[in-house]
Amino acid sequence: MQSQTKRHNKTQSAFVKRLKFENEMDSFFALFRRYLSDKASGTTLDWDKISSPKEGEVVDYSKITTADSTENLSKLAVLKLNGGLGTSMGCVGPKSVIEVRDGNTFLDLAVRQIEYLNRQYDSDVPLLLMNSFNTDSDTHQIIRKYGGHRIRIRTFNQSKYPRILKDSLLPVPLSADDDINCWYPPGHGDLFESLHASGELDALIEQGKEVLFVSNGDNLGATVDLKILNHMLETNSEYIMELTDKTRADVKGGTLINYNGEVRLLEIAQVPKEHVEEFKSIKKFKNFNTNNLWINLKAIKRLIESNGIESEIIPNAKSIVNKNGQEINVLQLETAVGAAIRHFDNAHGVVVSRARFLPVKTCSDLLLVKSDLFYLEHGALKLDPTRFGANPLIKLGSHFKKVSNFNQRIAHIPKILELDHLTITGNVNLGKGVVLKGTVIIVCQDGQRIDIPNGSVLENVVITGCPNC
Ligand code: UTP
Repeated sequence: MQSQTKRHNKTQSAFVKRLKFENEMDSFFALFRRYLSDKASGTTLDWDKISSPKEGEVVDYSKITTADSTENLSKLAVLKLNGGLGTSMGCVGPKSVIEVRDGNTFLDLAVRQIEYLNRQYDSDVPLLLMNSFNTDSDTHQIIRKYGGHRIRIRTFNQSKYPRILKDSLLPVPLSADDDINCWYPPGHGDLFESLHASGELDALIEQGKEVLFVSNGDNLGATVDLKILNHMLETNSEYIMELTDKTRADVKGGTLINYNGEVRLLEIAQVPKEHVEEFKSIKKFKNFNTNNLWINLKAIKRLIESNGIESEIIPNAKSIVNKNGQEINVLQLETAVGAAIRHFDNAHGVVVSRARFLPVKTCSDLLLVKSDLFYLEHGALKLDPTRFGANPLIKLGSHFKKVSNFNQRIAHIPKILELDHLTITGNVNLGKGVVLKGTVIIVCQDGQRIDIPNGSVLENVVITGCPNC
């Protein structure tokens, strides 16, 4: 009897797996067909139809008059986008398992933020993680320890689509169980489809949840903001995108525009070549998307069930090594969650402070978030109140590309509270208790090594040779 039940369960799970695969392939084909038709018709927008957002389409956070009361907290769920790998920082696993501070990973800090929120307000805000086939098992290893904690963590997997050969556009995998390298997670725009397909969307709606606060797994500044939540419900808005003012470091970020009377996200890839400089200018497009998004759950259901979300396709060209050891050029068709804004009613942007956008894309960013410029408060990173002006510009060279190299070369994070600009290139190692102030440039020539001694205080200096030599 027991073995019969086991066999039955096995057949059932194979059936569910098969069904999931078939649904994913249907969605992939729809995306692929759309890619072919976009390719034929051209995807750049008509520049003359683009104008700055109209009044009310982008509002300043300071102008929001709504109270930051907790009455709507029971309607909220929080989701972290957790499908990406830490490859660009030289890590093999998910980016969210990189250690950020005091032995805590991005994931640990996200959990601590929500745990604290629930404790503080006696609420039951669930934390959802959208994993990919690349990140799911490592993520489960980390969150296992939160089993007995006061937090409901739910995970679901985003889709697994086949890579396609760049020249022939034929699929790379030859069967459903072909090598992992033949597949890819199709960008965070997949959130809507996967949330729905996993059953989590219906479950949230059944629990009385109305709003989903979405953010990148590496953004420790993306904390729950009661004022934005209340404002969203008060204005009957189905989608709010948090924007923040551009600096010279992020001129390429997507911006909100009015296009033919509709609020849209404009990404650099959609800008005609001759207007790229205009797009990057701080004057014309003042702020950009932080990917902190507040989305109405029932609106997601309505749009998904009527095939109403067709976000711009971002073709991502890559080269991979196939089973025979040959390098092949492939394409993966991706979409971004922010691009869906145009499908939602009363969608608008809210301009927030830079403190809500602390992305970690490189080890230069990692140095910043690990430093004394910030302190941890219940899992959230807060800027030291004594810091004056914008965050320092940090550029670490290729010797610091991998997190492992970074940790070796900068085993003790320097004090940078008074730093404006830091460039380090070449074989450089920092000692313990180093203080950096103003503009510090350390350039080590090929074949040499620079060790900055313990306790050094470097202020407005250019170092090109070893101070000990
Ligand atoms: P990205 O890799 O897209 O970061 O991941 P980015 O370079 O900043 O790109 P944009 O400008 O935000 O689009 C952003 C977040 O989305 C998740 C990553 O894990 C990260 O938290 N992500 C990315 C997914 O969950 N799934 C994907 O397929 C891609």
